[in-house]
Formats: sequence, C-alpha cells, structure tokens
Amino acid sequence: MHFEVKSAKASELSSDVAIVAVFENNEMGNAAKSLDKATGGIISDVLKRGDIKGRTGDLLLLTRTTGANCDRILLVGGGKHKEFSRQNYRKALQAAFSWLAGKPYKSAACYLTQEHIGSADAFRSARIAAEVWHQASYRFTQMKSKDESGPVVLTKLTVAARDAKTAAAARKGVAQGDALGKGMKLSRDLANLPANVCTPTYLANQARALAKSTRHLTCKVLSEAEMRKLGMGSLLSVTAGSVEPAQFIILEYKGAAAGKAPTVLVGKGITFDTGGISLKPPAAMDEMKFDMSGAASVFGTFKALAELQPKLNVIGLIPTCENMPGGTATKPGDIVKSMSGLTIEILNTDAEGRLILCDALTYARRYKPAAVIDVATLTGACVIALGKHFTGLLSTSDSLAKALEKAGDNSDDRAWRLPLTPEYAEQLKSNFADVANIGGREAGTITAASFLAKFTTDMNWAHLDIAGTAYQTGAAKGSSGRPVPLLLEFLLNS
Ligand code: BES
Ligand code: MN
Ligand code: ZN
Repeated sequence: MHFEVKSAKASELSSDVAIVAVFENNEMGNAAKSLDKATGGIISDVLKRGDIKGRTGDLLLLTRTTGANCDRILLVGGGKHKEFSRQNYRKALQAAFSWLAGKPYKSAACYLTQEHIGSADAFRSARIAAEVWHQASYRFTQMKSKDESGPVVLTKLTVAARDAKTAAAARKGVAQGDALGKGMKLSRDLANLPANVCTPTYLANQARALAKSTRHLTCKVLSEAEMRKLGMGSLLSVTAGSVEPAQFIILEYKGAAAGKAPTVLVGKGITFDTGGISLKPPAAMDEMKFDMSGAASVFGTFKALAELQPKLNVIGLIPTCENMPGGTATKPGDIVKSMSGLTIEILNTDAEGRLILCDALTYARRYKPAAVIDVATLTGACVIALGKHFTGLLSTSDSLAKALEKAGDNSDDRAWRLPLTPEYAEQLKSNFADVANIGGREAGTITAASFLAKFTTDMNWAHLDIAGTAYQTGAAKGSSGRPVPLLLEFLLNS
C-alpha cells in the first residue's frame, strides 16, 4: 500500500473513492460540507431522505457524482458529531476500510482525518488511519488452495490533513501506523500458521530473515546443546517430549549508542501446547497453536522497529519449543534446575510457559537492561478475569507498570494491572524443591506472575498476560496482533 498525506479540500483531490464522515441528526463533517457544496447538495439530500442515519460505522456509497474530482463518495457514520471520539473514529474507519478492501477500486482518499476527533491530534489520527487500513485489509490465505476472499485491489490511500501545518505531523503518524500495521501483520501471520508449519525451527528461520532486512538488527539462535551448557534445565524440561528441537532466539536491535541500556522483550514461544503429560481436554485444543503469540508479538514489534529505525536499543528473547506428551516427556513431580539455580517441582506439565520464560528472564540479566517485559499467553485464569478486552499487567515496578498502562491507553491496546504482592508467592511452596510451578486454583494469573518474579529480583520487570487478547475465538478465530501496538508505543516513548 502506498500512503500519502495531502492537505486539500475534499472537492479538490482526485481519487476513485472519497471517504467522508456524516453524523447523526443530519450533521455533516468538514469534508462532507465541502463535497456537498461541490456536488450541488447531494449529501444533504441523502441525509434528509434518511438514506444514512450517521450511526457509527453506517455506510452509504454515492456514485456518478459530478462537480467534485472524486468518482465516488463513501459516506461513513461517525455517531453524534459532538461525541466523535477516537473510539468512534476507529470504528468508522474500520467499517469504511473493511468495505473498501473488498472492492475493485485502486485509490481512495480518507477525509475523516479532517474532523475534530476527541483525544486524537493530527499525528495520532493519521497513525490510526494507516494502522486500521492494515488491520481491515488483513487476509490469511497462505494455507488455502484458492483465495476465496479475492485479492485487495486498493494500492493508494491518501490521508487528508486539515492544512499544511498539520500535514507534517500526519506524515509522521502515517509512517508509524504503516510500520505498526506491518508489524501486526507479521505477528498475526506467524500466530495464525498451524503448528505443523510454524515450528520452533520455522520461527528461528523467520528471525534470521527479519534480521537481514536492516543493518541495525542481528539474530542469534541457541541450540539445545547450548541451552544445556547455560543450564537452562527448566526450558529443556518442556521440550523433552517433542521431536522438534527447541530454539532460543535472540534478536538485537541497536539504534542507539552501545552504552545505552536496552529494553528486553521476552516472548513465550510454545508453538503448540498439548499440556504435556498433564494433557489438555480436546475441546478447542487447536487454539493452542496460538500459544506462541507472545513470541509473535516480539517479532511484530521488531518488524516495526526495523521499519522505523528509532534511536533505541531493544533485545528480543524468544524461547520456543513444543509442549508434548511422550515417553521422554517430563512427568508431574519431576524436579528440574533452572538457569538461575532455583530448583522447580513440576506439579503440572501444562504450566509450561513460566518454565521457558524463567530461563529466558535469567538470560536477560546479561544485558543489564533498563527494563524487561515478558509477553505470554500464560493463564486461562486471565481470560476469566479480564476477557478479551484487557491484557493482564503485573509488575514489581510501579513506574514501569504506569508507563505500560499509558502506552496501552494511547495505542488503544489496553492493559489492566493486577496486584502482585508477596503473599501470593506462598501458594508456590514445594515440599521437595525451591518452588512449585503451580499455585492452586486461586488467583492463577497472579501466582504465575509470582513464579516469574522469583527470577527477576532486582530487575525493572513487567509481565503481560495476553491469553485473552492475543487471538479471537469462535467465528472470527484468528490472531489479533496484540500487544504489538502497546509494545511499540511504549518503546517509542522510552
Ligand atoms: N497456554 C496456556 C494458557 C492459556 C489457556 C492460554 C487458555 C490461552 C487460553 C498455559 O500454558 C496453561 O496451560 N496454563 C494453565 C496453568 C495451570 C495448569 C496452572 C491454565 O491456565 O490452565
Ligand atoms: Mn499449558
Ligand atoms: Zn501454554
């Protein structure tokens, strides 16, 4: 997609489709007014006739319009004019772009960015426009022999700025939204791929390919033998039942001075979670191919970094393997030694995410990081607590937690903090080892984070539980690309 920013009246720019906002009670946005005048009142006419009510996301296409430089006008409802919030703007864009992505038009100009949008300036509204285009035009057809949805034809999208002054900010916004969209697409593609294709080795090769795309990015992959040498007994216990070799992927993005402490992102990369010997029930087990969504979000974030080349140092650590039952698999009651030296009694082999993350968190120490953030589809309990709307956020650092909450709010990829006080760690006591890998039924998301906290002492660390937000279930089953928006927003403001 070629994005461009132009500042002109809606009646002046030429395109196959001009997208303009109308509102409830027959109100027109700035661009609609301009086109209404140029076309001799066609928009006020259809509003009066009640052909479109203006509720958020309502659509009406006007064709064979004369007087303006566009061939067609797509009216999009934005709700009540006075309440045109960032959320309504997003919904309106989503409706317009989803419609547009299925049509045979080559170019479009979006004028919603000329409206006054609550809590979104020229930069933010342009960023959202580019991001939403990527989201709305996303297709996952790699595994289909025939592409039923048909290709997306649109190749040029003009984002209209209000004036020359705001156009510069809008250009930056579009560049960031485009990079974010590409990152989310990579994240979604990797997560949507089935586990027989997206193996740990496949992910390692993807990381190598990504690192080739920019000189600031390098990639290293540790083999099982190297992990053994480092003492990653916890991680290796998870892969014990699998014939696919585990991989430990290290991505290093160096855009700032070498002395600047990096932010480390750690992504859970379980390419399939059967539960192991503590086997999961069959219902919806296919969704456990999404158990590498944390890893996918790290990939997506690095893709966006590669596009934007910001002056930052960021490390990505991706421990990746399968969790399988088998004759060589880890058994409940087995005790393993983690890289930190702590011994772990594995009471449930289905609590495997924390077992690979703890060794990666220990590995992170060598970078003397400014902050460490791990991202994982870690607990079903988080889906029960927060559903699909908020990512679970747990941290021993108030300032880091606040910064992540803010990044989530600003990027419409929200996280909600849960408590992480010491009393929860008592649930992890083991009679036989230093710590158990499960803490009983109560507060499952918090005890999982409490387990991780044992490996992050003295580090500025936060944990994102994305079990509810990383993918959708049911008819719309598929990866969401979250929390790439939150992570990118956080990094760019750090
Ligand atoms: N990958 C799952 C968590 C999960 C569950 C993600 C549902 C998305 C949807 C994780 O490895 C797991 O199995 N966790 C267990 C932990 C329990 C054994 C303490 C869980 O949540 O049931
Ligand atoms: Mn599991
Ligand atoms: Zn899992």
